[in-house]
Amino acid sequence: MNRTCVMTTSLTPFHTFHLPVNARKIISVSTKEALRDEWLLATQAGELVLILGQGSNMLFLDDFDGTVLLNRLLGIALSENDDFYFLHVGGGENWHQLVEWSLDQGIGGLENLALIPGCAGSAPIQNIGAYGVEFESLCDFVEVMDLRSGEVFQLSREACQFGYRESVFKHQYRDHFAIIRIGLKLPKAWKPVLNYGSLAQFDPENVTPRQIFTEVCAVRSAKLPNPNEFGNAGSFFKNPIVPLADFQRILAAYPNVPHYPQADGSVKLPAGWLIDQCQLKGFQIGGAGVHTQQALVLINKGDATGQDVLALATHVRRQVREKFGVDIHPEVRFMGKVGEVDSEQVTR
Ligand code: FAD
Ligand code: EPU
Repeated sequence: MNRTCVMTTSLTPFHTFHLPVNARKIISVSTKEALRDEWLLATQAGELVLILGQGSNMLFLDDFDGTVLLNRLLGIALSENDDFYFLHVGGGENWHQLVEWSLDQGIGGLENLALIPGCAGSAPIQNIGAYGVEFESLCDFVEVMDLRSGEVFQLSREACQFGYRESVFKHQYRDHFAIIRIGLKLPKAWKPVLNYGSLAQFDPENVTPRQIFTEVCAVRSAKLPNPNEFGNAGSFFKNPIVPLADFQRILAAYPNVPHYPQADGSVKLPAGWLIDQCQLKGFQIGGAGVHTQQALVLINKGDATGQDVLALATHVRRQVREKFGVDIHPEVRFMGKVGEVDSEQVTR
C-alpha cells in the first residue's frame, strides 16, 4: 500500500501543538510515486496541498482548506568507504529514531541532534541544530522532487545554502517541491562536539557518542516540554543576531547577558533570555502560555487555539522590542486556511 487515506480530518494528532484544527483530507504516502500522484490529483482538482512531516514546526491558525500529504517515505541504506559512512535516508523516517539507529550501528556523528522531533526529510529545511551541531555539517545531499514535472534531483550541501535556521528550501524550493531523501556523510574518524553547556564536562579523549546522546537527551528532557503533555513547536522564535553597537548598549545595562559573537562582528542573543527578562515566564493568553522552564517555548495549556498562540507570540515579540529595542522573528511556520501565512507580518 503506497497511500493511505487517514480516517479523520482532524489535524490535532498530526502536529505537535495539538490544536483543534482540521483539513479537508489527510493522506499518508509511502512512495515518491504516491506522493506525486496525490499531489497531482489534488492540484488538478483545484485543491490546496500541504506536505507535512510530523508537524513539529507548525502553527495552524485555522482549519486548512485542502489536502494534507503526510510524508512517510521510509528506508535507510548504509554504505561506507575507508573514511566515511554514508546514510541514505527516506524523507519520512523519524529523525530521533535515525539518531538511535546510527548509534546502534556504532556510527557516531548524530548524537548532539538527539530528541529533535520531526522527519529526516524536514531536517534540511530549517537546518536543524542543537548542542553545537547543525544538520549542515552532516549533509552530503538532499534529494528533491519537482512535483509538477516529477523530476528528481539532488542538491549538494553547498547548493542547499544552509544558514542559521535557513536553507534554499524556505525560498527557491519552497513551493511544489518535496524532499524525498537525504544523504548524510559521517567521518569514521569521529570527533566529539563538546562546546555546549554541560557537554564540556566530558573528556574529549574518552567520551563516547552514546554518552553524549544520553546527556543531550537528559538536558533536553529537563528543559523542553514533551509535546504529548503540553503541545508546542520547540523554540517559537529564532535567536536574534544584532549589530555590535546594539549588543554593547544591552551589555551596558545587563552585564550578564549571555551572547554568542558571530564571525562578522555581529552578536547572537538568546531570545529565551530576552523573553525571560521581560518576566513573561508563565504568562498566558487564552489557553496559550510561555513555558515556565524555557521562555522561548510557547505551549498549549490544553485548550489553546491557534489565535491564542498568535496573540501570545505577538505580545511576546512586542514586549521584547519595547524593553530591548530588539526584534525577534518566529522560527515556527504559520499555516492559515489557504496556505502559509507570513509569520513576520502577523506578529508585528
Ligand atoms: P513539519 O513541521 O511537518 O514541516 C515544517 C515545514 O516543512 C512545513 O512548511 C512543511 O510544509 C514543510 N515540509 C515538511 N516536510 C517536507 C518535505 N518532505 N518536503 C518539502 N517540504 C516539507 N528544531 C531545531 O532545529 N533544533 C531543536 O533543538 C529543536 N527542538 C525541538 C523541540 C521540540 C519539543 C519541538 C516540538 C520542535 C523542535 N524543533 C527543533 C523544531 C522541529 O523539530 C524541526 O523544525 C523539525 O525539523 C520539523 O520536522 P517536521 O517533520 O515536524 O516538519
Ligand atoms: N535562557 C534564559 N531563560 C530562559 C531560556 C533561556 O535565561 O527562559 C538563557 C539560558 O540560560 C542560556 C541561553 O538563554 O544562557 C540559551 O538558552 P538554551 O541553551 O536553552 O538555548 P536556546 O538558545 O533557547 C537553542 C535552539 C534550540 C536548541 C538549543 C540547544 C534556537 C532558536 N533554539 O535554544 O532549538 O535545542 O539551543 O542547542 O536556536 C528549536 O529550534 O526548536 C530548538 C529547540
